Amino acid sequence: MVALDVPDIEGAERLAGQVGGLVGALKVGSELFTACGPEGVRRIRATGARVFLDLKFHDIPHTVARAVRVATRLGVDFLTVHTSGGEPMMRSAVEAAREEAAALGRATPTILGVTVLTSMDAAQLRAVMGETEVAAQVERLARLAVAAGVPGLVCSPMELPLLRRVLPREVVLVTPGIRMGPPAAGDDQKRTLSPAEAMAAGADWIVVGRPIHAAPDPAAAARAIAESMGMAVERAGEGEASGR
Ligand code: C5P
Repeated sequence: MVALDVPDIEGAERLAGQVGGLVGALKVGSELFTACGPEGVRRIRATGARVFLDLKFHDIPHTVARAVRVATRLGVDFLTVHTSGGEPMMRSAVEAAREEAAALGRATPTILGVTVLTSMDAAQLRAVMGETEVAAQVERLARLAVAAGVPGLVCSPMELPLLRRVLPREVVLVTPGIRMGPPAAGDDQKRTLSPAEAMAAGADWIVVGRPIHAAPDPAAAARAIAESMGMAVERAGEGEASGR
């Protein structure tokens, strides 16, 4: 999945055109959504891509459920809620997505629960949560999400082995925090792995932002990442790229 973390729809459509055929879904996050709103989501959907709406809902159950209904009407394929919003909030989100999709005769969007942000290290987590370890916190939130019926989770690649060990195999694991090498000085992502390492550790999907959208040639960067994971990728000008 490629994060369209750009401030306008023209940039997002350009990026979608460059990488859309190489990736499984395009992610609309806070920046693009704040700039372009639902029309931006419709325009990215119109490129033929699957859309991951990453607004990380975290509010009372009623409000989250209503936001999830609207997102479902927009036709997104994935959307995020914060697991720290608690079990009733997550349960409301899952039920709202299921009910709204059924009423519309569409596939239910996959709700993904965000555990601990991949930008947080142990010291930052302790500053917010008190005495707790990152792994323990991720495991607690992941188990809560699964108990609430949430079908997938967003986690750092570092926590993939742990979550694969303790959760049912059908739980969809999505990991940002992907870097081709160690994070550069000033990068906010702290707990990173390479694409191939993340897939080997049990990711179903990786989410890549800056290594693609900030690259001089985003399509070449996306192709290099796909190839580093052993995916067969056709060269530009040779037709559609294949695979997830
Ligand atoms: O640029 P970078 O590859 O760090 O982008 C990662 C993307 O994944 C960003 O859009 C960020 O909002 C998102 N994300 C994250 N950590 C989470 C959930 C989402 O980095 N826990």
